[in-house]
Amino acid sequence: MPILAHSSRRLARRRTADILSVSPASRPVASLSPSVQAAAVARQPRKEGDIGSVFASLSGEKETPLPARFGELKHLIIGDADNQARLTASWRSLIERLRQLAPEIERKQQQSIPTVSYEELIEAPSERTIQDIKRCGTLVLTGVIPEQEAQQWLEDIRTYIHLNPSVKGFPANDKQVFEIYWSRPQLAARSHPRALAAQRALLKLFSAPPSAPVSLETPLTYADRLRIRHPGDAKFALGPHMDGGSVERWEDERYRSVYGEILRGRWEAFDAWQMDHRVEANQNMYDGAGSCGVFRAFQGWTSLSSTGPKEGTLRVYPHIREQTAYTLLRPLFKELQPRSALSHEDYLSAENWVLDMESTRFPGAPLARGQELNNETHPHLELERSMVSIPRVKPGDQAWWHCDVVHAVESTHQGQGPSAVMYIPTVPLTAINAQYVRDQRESFLQAIPPPDFPGGVGESQFQGTGRESDIVGDTAKNGMGMAAFEVPADLSPGEADIRRRANEVFGF
Ligand SMILES: [Fe+2]
Repeated sequence: MPILAHSSRRLARRRTADILSVSPASRPVASLSPSVQAAAVARQPRKEGDIGSVFASLSGEKETPLPARFGELKHLIIGDADNQARLTASWRSLIERLRQLAPEIERKQQQSIPTVSYEELIEAPSERTIQDIKRCGTLVLTGVIPEQEAQQWLEDIRTYIHLNPSVKGFPANDKQVFEIYWSRPQLAARSHPRALAAQRALLKLFSAPPSAPVSLETPLTYADRLRIRHPGDAKFALGPHMDGGSVERWEDERYRSVYGEILRGRWEAFDAWQMDHRVEANQNMYDGAGSCGVFRAFQGWTSLSSTGPKEGTLRVYPHIREQTAYTLLRPLFKELQPRSALSHEDYLSAENWVLDMESTRFPGAPLARGQELNNETHPHLELERSMVSIPRVKPGDQAWWHCDVVHAVESTHQGQGPSAVMYIPTVPLTAINAQYVRDQRESFLQAIPPPDFPGGVGESQFQGTGRESDIVGDTAKNGMGMAAFEVPADLSPGEADIRRRANEVFGF
């Protein structure tokens, strides 16, 4: 299969001519543009930095009011009297459901989160396992990478860091989340045949109509950072948040369509596992530090250490339908009496909440930052009781969470050893994702940070950085935009179309 270093540079030069440049801050709601075009916001190099710039809470920002158009957007979503009545009734049933769930989640803890072996997921997952995963949105997948291989990767990463002491990281005085994207172990982990098979199996949990321009067979590669958290650390305390943008979930028409059932007052009918609208949703309207240029069906990491609850691991809300419905409905409602004036129960009671027809507030959803959630912004989730740590993982196990899952990182690491992971998501082939991978390929060839991440010279001056020869196997090369997708005759029309389009985007 050809590897086209020269053609990728040519394509990168051509890039800005064929994409749409928009000024999102001035765009009125009424002129929301088609998602695929809007998603092609000219990618500007990011400033140098670290993960501290991604979330408002990590960078110390307070809530700033959104522009007036967000009030119009709320009006548009809340709709006519019929929809208002449905929304109000569905809000009541949802907060009653959340009230029941909180003590159940608190009691079950890790039992709420399925642990599934690689073999079961690949060969024949039981109906019960599938339903468990779909109810929760998160799973631990065990035994994906042989344990010794994963341990060796951690050793090799430590050597790479030692060889290149100028590496950036967060926090700057005790680096634990490293601005490293192109180390050999990361390339090996992203290319590993079992990792790619796991991603294909995870994509199959979603459904898409045959005409949808998406491939669930051919995962793309998204290069991300790695984390080696030290025992005792309390700095990398990432609070509850959702990936995949913030206000975009409401503002972008296509993204909003994903949640159509919820916004029409039928949250019980919401299916988080439908892929069709998601593939053309624009999750990145403001190109801020926290934005993501691809649609990740699952975010995930591959563990390089043995890490359990209280050891700096992942925490999630384990019921995806309810938490997504609540997050989407929350800006449409406001409290009548503040928390300080009422008992906890009366404050959360449906009697204390009414449709918000005036304000521009989208709690925890600032422009160009990630969607954050806390007890003030999203009180009915009772996050202090209902965020649970995932079960213990060993080196080579993976944690996976659906793109809507509310997740956090444990605030302190009370364990004895490192809590080390490589962030590696599951990314289906879509038009938007192929464009990103084309640009990411250029970053790889220059060994600079990928387009979504803080810029600078990255690893271009480092010793021991991975090269094209480290991308092994056709599937891995496909995922990096370094080999053409095959287009056999028996594909669905949507899948055949997207593979052909991706080959064009990649220059084949
Ligand atoms: Fe996240």
